Amino acid sequence: MKIITLGIESSCDETACAVVSDGTHVLSSVISSQAGFHSTFGGVVPELASRMHVETIIPCVREALEVSGKSLSDIDAICVTKGPGLVGALLVGISSAKGLSEVSGKPLIGVGHIDSHVAANYLVHDDFTEPYVALIVSGGHTEIVYVQDDRHKEVIGRTRDDAAGEAIDKIARVIGLGYPGGPKMDAAGKDGDSSAYSFPRTFFPESFDFSFSGLKTAALNIINQATMANKEINVSDFSASYLRTISEVLVENSIKACLNLNCRRLCLAGGVSANSVLRKAMIRACEQNQIKLYYPPIELCTDNAAMVAAAGYLYYCKGVRDDLSLNAQPSLRQ
Ligand SMILES: Nc1ncnc2c1ncn2[C@@H]1O[C@H](COP(=O)(O)OP(=O)(O)OP(=O)(O)O)[C@@H](O)[C@H]1O
Ligand SMILES: [Mg+2]
Repeated sequence: MKIITLGIESSCDETACAVVSDGTHVLSSVISSQAGFHSTFGGVVPELASRMHVETIIPCVREALEVSGKSLSDIDAICVTKGPGLVGALLVGISSAKGLSEVSGKPLIGVGHIDSHVAANYLVHDDFTEPYVALIVSGGHTEIVYVQDDRHKEVIGRTRDDAAGEAIDKIARVIGLGYPGGPKMDAAGKDGDSSAYSFPRTFFPESFDFSFSGLKTAALNIINQATMANKEINVSDFSASYLRTISEVLVENSIKACLNLNCRRLCLAGGVSANSVLRKAMIRACEQNQIKLYYPPIELCTDNAAMVAAAGYLYYCKGVRDDLSLNAQPSLRQ
């Protein structure tokens, strides 16, 4: 019999609900994004995000059930993002999930947001399985994780300062692209010259760690120098060069990790893995090193609830269950 999980996501500025069968088949996935609203402020305003989640969460759940053709009684587990994320935003999803679990009598499962990003790969790749190396690149995270099996998981590299997504969003804002910066910088750099501007690449010997603050400072210096000289930067070339630099660092460390661990499976996860420069560079590097690369389609890279339902299925199979004491864990680590 198939296990049907309902996923709820509200960790940042997407309110989402999805129904997934056996952790692999998406029956419905509804996303209500607040990004357009927050763009007025140049970034997410946490208090407003929570209030908007309150307004949209129940309609999202209703629509996800309707599109999937399932009712609450067909659902085997209510899975919800427990963290990391914005505390008020997380609490909206968690409270709704508790309510649904109470009225339906179905188990409640709190799911880690980063596990969910990685689990997006199960929704599209039949042969995706452990062991694998995961490069998690999102708005708040840049990590390399080695997943040997479902009990052995180790973060082997992480950023020592900014996440790649943060470094992209900040500079995108400064060069006038607005919020959310990632997709806009991706589009702006499409026809740009990626060697027009030169940025520093940071590597740490004997480590898979990252650092993007030097790169961000170098970018700000170039922009400030241009402003003082009354010149304009070429946004297209600048975007292409900046994204190329970030991608090269992400690719080099990920490949190094795979070779070091002799692991021939690599997956990408998180919003920045939607980036076209990174995807192209990673595909090329994996081909050259005989590494099988997995990545989700663009719509499953950024926050969604199908990935929560997919990760929730894995938790469900392991016997994880929560009760009404489930609380938001804004700083949850892997
Ligand atoms: N095409 C793209 N190119 C580069 N960056 C992108 C692209 N699409 C989205 N991003 C970036 O992905 C990030 C959002 O990803 P995601 O939704 O996974 O992050 P988050 O949920 O806010 O943070 P986290 O998952 O770490 O808690 C933003 O920084 C956004 O700019
Ligand atoms: Mg995310």
